[in-house]
Amino acid sequence: MAQQDAAGGQEQALSALLHETRRFDPPPELAARANAQASIYEEAAADPAGWWAEQARRLDWETPFTEVLDWNLPDARWFYDGKLNASVNCVDRHVAAGKGDKVAFHWVGEPEGDTRTITYADLLEMVCKAANALTDLGVSAGDRVAIYMPMIPEAVVAMLACARIGAPHSVVFGGFSAEALSSRILDADCRTVITADGGYRRGAPSALKPHVDEALEQCPTVSTVLCVRRTGQEVEWTEGRDHWWHDVVDSASSTHEAAAFDAEHPLYLMYTSGTTAKPKGILHTTGGYLTHVAATHRLIFDVKPDEDVFWTAADIGWVTGHSYIVYGPLANGTTSVMYEGTPTAGGRDRWWRIVEDYKVTILYTAPTTIRTLMKWGEDLPAGHDLSSLRVLGSVGEPINPEAWMWYRKNVGRTRCPIVDTWWQTETGGILITPLPGITSTKPGAAMRPFPGISADVVDNDGRPVGNGEGGYLVITQPWPGMLRGIWGDHDRYVQTYWSRFPGMYFAGDGAKKDDDGDLWLLGRVDDVMNISGHRISTTEVEHALVGHPSVAEAAVVGASDETTGQAIVAFVTVKGNVAVEDESATEALVAELRQTVATTIGPIARPRQILLTPELPKTRSGKIMRRLLRDVAEHRELGDVTTLMDPTVVNMIGEKMREGEDET
Ligand code: WTA
Repeated sequence: MAQQDAAGGQEQALSALLHETRRFDPPPELAARANAQASIYEEAAADPAGWWAEQARRLDWETPFTEVLDWNLPDARWFYDGKLNASVNCVDRHVAAGKGDKVAFHWVGEPEGDTRTITYADLLEMVCKAANALTDLGVSAGDRVAIYMPMIPEAVVAMLACARIGAPHSVVFGGFSAEALSSRILDADCRTVITADGGYRRGAPSALKPHVDEALEQCPTVSTVLCVRRTGQEVEWTEGRDHWWHDVVDSASSTHEAAAFDAEHPLYLMYTSGTTAKPKGILHTTGGYLTHVAATHRLIFDVKPDEDVFWTAADIGWVTGHSYIVYGPLANGTTSVMYEGTPTAGGRDRWWRIVEDYKVTILYTAPTTIRTLMKWGEDLPAGHDLSSLRVLGSVGEPINPEAWMWYRKNVGRTRCPIVDTWWQTETGGILITPLPGITSTKPGAAMRPFPGISADVVDNDGRPVGNGEGGYLVITQPWPGMLRGIWGDHDRYVQTYWSRFPGMYFAGDGAKKDDDGDLWLLGRVDDVMNISGHRISTTEVEHALVGHPSVAEAAVVGASDETTGQAIVAFVTVKGNVAVEDESATEALVAELRQTVATTIGPIARPRQILLTPELPKTRSGKIMRRLLRDVAEHRELGDVTTLMDPTVVNMIGEKMREGEDET
């Protein structure tokens, strides 16, 4: 795997910063509680598997487990002789405990005033109906179901209904293209797709069903499409295949006897970008995953189910939505806010109005959004009553200390602890984070492994580094929420995660231990970019570009960006017979190429900048020197160019880049 030095630039800035690091200790009024609870780390460290088993016993098991862990590196099975139903744990048991009237979701649609309140009793009825409808449509345990939906309650219902009948769901983010959708449907061999006519994005209806129709041209084995009417947009209809949700779900019976499944029964697949063009279907199973997300949700956000209003501002199309909008909060019987749209819709203070209106107590979001809100100024949050907030969370990418401090001061009003939570689609739930009121926090640091988790930072040879040193983040012991594999490709699972450092899980992230031994995450060290907290592989974008008839070669790098963390910059050479004579021809081709990427992958992958260049810098053995291109894209002094076949190429590209930027 190509090891990038992406962390290099950040590291310099970081070491300067470490000398002036501020550190925030839990407020004195929490000290007594902290003392009482600080032992949580020691307890878990003394017997990690036993500690996790205790967390697992907080769930309802139809058949209680007696075995905790079977670890046959790199394959883990947790609680594997137990049986449970994830949907029953998220819904039925709360209703049975007399909490049917408790709100599960305050749902806020993007159009002003478009809201719904879903209680646990409502959710139970909706999930039972959907489970019955799916069964009637021929879906049974083990069948994979693709879900391609906007952020509406039916998306959660669809996931829980699949879980209820043991059909693993594969949610594909609604912003992905038809092509991205079809490749995921094909890889998992889904026969059923649940979707909607569209959703609201940036103030307007945005269509989904046409993408499904287009995707299914490539997927002849899909026999059933279930479609929610959300926007009322016109849709094409394939008789026999397509069914309206309001026809088949609303009329289904509202009672459903849920069967229990083995703890290791597949719960879902979530596709994520790797270092090749083909996304990986990350497999999560039931008992360990649910244990992990419920425990982390409860302890990291200090959740008090009877008081809190929890808001994860993310999309259920990503793992953050799976673990901390759906499974974690519902397993804990929490009230959540679920918001359909973008922060700008309905005015730049939309978020603060939501916090104020619903008295949100815990807010969990991504640094990229915090930086956007920061750009819009302090007055917007200052104009609203945010006194309900108690804990703030950050996830998805390294949070820069400036954004952290802004979040603390303007949103948390210096009162709320901030938990910077590091994890991945593969880890299922949070692994590295402070615990509010217990752990000290530092702006920009994820601090320490969650209780029961063993992580380290190692050098190139897999040796743990000392304090004050950097290296690669590894997880050294199995954990309940860990991925159980890559769908249909066990070799790739072993290769990607367990081969770089024998016996350890390699996360693909650079990290550093500071002088106190606290952990700082430094970003990816492989060919995966992080754009606004979304993982996109450089190779995937290169493939999309090379798919355009005019393109000969493409090299893509992630360059640092003030708002989105990283931004996509592509360097492209055109085929010999393609004439790009003047500026307007260049502009037209660049616009077309950017659109090609958006159409092939999705708008989130649209490059910020594309530079047409006569050549790409290559080593004498013909490998493209991405490291140099990143230097160029980030305006750094060029590193060692002696291995280049033709060192003048990179200088020329640098000049072109500067020219282009001077013009804009
Ligand atoms: C990055 C999102 C620094 C990291 C939950 C990881 C972070 C990738 C943090 C996973 C954080 C996530 N600090 N970096 N707090 N959280 N990352 O699979 O590079 O979409 O490998 O999961 O995001 O992205 P994924």
